[in-house]
Amino acid sequence: MSASNLEPGAGNDRFNAEAATWDSNPFVRARSLEAWKAIQARVPALFGADSAQAKPDVLDIGCGTGLLSLEVAPFANRLVAIDAAEGMIRVLSSKLESPSTPQNIHPLAILLEDPEDERLPPADEAAPHGPRLKYDLIISNLVLHHIKDVKSVLTTMFGCLKQGGVVALTDFEDFGPEAKRFHPEAKMAGVEHHGIGREWMAGLMKKVGFKDFKVEVEWEHPKLVEKYPGEFKNGKPAAGQGDLMTFTYVLCFGRRE
Ligand SMILES: C[S@@+](CC[C@H](N)C(=O)[O-])C[C@H]1O[C@@H](n2cnc3c(N)ncnc32)[C@H](O)[C@@H]1O
Repeated sequence: MSASNLEPGAGNDRFNAEAATWDSNPFVRARSLEAWKAIQARVPALFGADSAQAKPDVLDIGCGTGLLSLEVAPFANRLVAIDAAEGMIRVLSSKLESPSTPQNIHPLAILLEDPEDERLPPADEAAPHGPRLKYDLIISNLVLHHIKDVKSVLTTMFGCLKQGGVVALTDFEDFGPEAKRFHPEAKMAGVEHHGIGREWMAGLMKKVGFKDFKVEVEWEHPKLVEKYPGEFKNGKPAAGQGDLMTFTYVLCFGRRE
């Protein structure tokens, strides 16, 4: 059974269709940069100035076109970037053809449900069917709200971490009924939660076994939202349409002991 409710269909169709134009939305780019700033501030030791320190192995789940992966990769040893939508991974792969992009990114079109999934890179290249690589850091930006069974995905993430490894997951906050306005009516397919509730998420992280878990608001960002459901044709505002609304964003941190 799928943990994320992203079976071929609703969510995948939407993200495959949007992949080619994903990066042209300045709002999307700005959110990735905010996420990167928040992650660096939360786990400075992983991105320390000490050049003798080993660089972290990083897993980006729901990487999309790699906007966040490409920011993190220069500071990482290996960065495995996965997304359930093949269209997104195709866009990321085409970016990686340029020699000026970091060459330590390993893109994969998979819906991750098992930390030992053989499509993930092995811990030891000499043992390709042996245990899979484990990570110092797992990141995931604006993905959790698309996942129906968040506890199940957190359990998979937990299984992908090294001992002492951490997750730093960013998404918009469920601050009440108005949070539903984040998505225009035309983009509701595949939306499972209208943001991430802080207490709800902390409770799930505790159940899964994370230590030192914290779910905190890290930044806020204005977004043009529909005045009424369906105002934006194809989800895109025309001139003069919409209300400007401020959304808060959380970072969900937890450590595997
Ligand atoms: C809103 S987009 C965010 C993309 C990217 N992180 C960004 O910030 O630009 C959500 C992405 O998560 C992917 N996704 C959702 N659930 C997933 C899962 N369980 N495994 C892999 N990808 C998933 C979708 O295919 C989609 O590309």
